[in-house]
Amino acid sequence: MKVTVVGAGGNVGSTVSMAVAQRDFAKEVVMVDIVQEKDGDKIYPSKGRALDQWESSPIHQFDTKLTGTVDYEDTAGSDVCVITAGVPRKPGMSRDDLLEINANIVQDVTEKLVKHSPNTIIIVVSNPLDVMAQVALETSGFDSNRVMGMAGILDTARYRSFLAEEIGVSPKDIQALLLGGHGDTMVPLPRFTTVCGMPITQFIDEDKLEEIVDRTKGGGGELVNLMGTSAWYAPGAAAAQMVEAIMLDQNRVFPCAAHLNGEYGQENLFLGVPVKLGEGGIKEIIEVDLNDEEQQLLDESADHVHSVLKEFRQLMDK
Ligand code: NAI
Ligand code: 2OP
Repeated sequence: MKVTVVGAGGNVGSTVSMAVAQRDFAKEVVMVDIVQEKDGDKIYPSKGRALDQWESSPIHQFDTKLTGTVDYEDTAGSDVCVITAGVPRKPGMSRDDLLEINANIVQDVTEKLVKHSPNTIIIVVSNPLDVMAQVALETSGFDSNRVMGMAGILDTARYRSFLAEEIGVSPKDIQALLLGGHGDTMVPLPRFTTVCGMPITQFIDEDKLEEIVDRTKGGGGELVNLMGTSAWYAPGAAAAQMVEAIMLDQNRVFPCAAHLNGEYGQENLFLGVPVKLGEGGIKEIIEVDLNDEEQQLLDESADHVHSVLKEFRQLMDK
């Protein structure tokens, strides 16, 4: 089983690679990046990070071979490819500000990946996430079950970790669902949030819950402000969980950015929704019965993704 991670000389890509290797289910992880320049010298960040991570294998006790490269021939025959290539946001930027530069990168990377791995499954991480997933889908020409975006697992993990801290239980025991685009319009759903199956409202008052919902929506920005760039540990772990679910055919149910064609009232749009992940990618898009308020929030989130998608199409027409 072979996994390729593109952008793996960077923060998220190298973390996905390491998290996959530590889970020890794959035979190899190929880490791709470009040749960079530093102080006039050429550097090879994916080769360096791959070597460093592989040198940790005796300590972490994994067999998954990590290899760094700048040559897509080395990615041939990958079962799953994760695209993290692109630029991250800086303080004051929104994910949407990355549109033009990352769209060109995702297009280019997808073409190269598909050429060498025509049967692969693509997980997009680069932002603005929902539109970058659409770019990968349209560029690859794949069926939509084989192209998806990572965001919902991350956003839900943030929500679950904040709740766990607030009410003093293990994050493992908080179950939750979050829908919508990966941006400030995301839709956390308190009605589907439980502590070991018990309604969250039994453990926290309404105002505090609202505060945590708001913090979750701004969770990416909170980290950008603290670090001057965006997060990587939780995003990397989330993408690795998707890779594992697909490669081990686990039938895990996760919120992921999936291409909707009628589901949730949306046409030809990627949006975060619960899906069943296993062999072949997305096996099923699960439709939750939403109440009017939840559906309205989801529609607003979809409107936002539509507007970024429109901007992308205008850029491509230029
Ligand atoms: P980073 O700057 O640390 O790494 C990006 C890497 O992409 C760099 O090593 C760069 O050389 C590489 N790259 C650029 N153009 C390339 C090309 N044409 N081919 C191959 N590699 C290329 O950035 P970081 O923090 O790893 O973020 C990566 C992306 O992931 C950003 O767009 C960021 O916004 C997004 N992100 C998305 C999340 C999500 O939940 N979906 C969470 C966190 C980050
Ligand atoms: C995050 O949510 C920036 O999308 C990235 O951390």
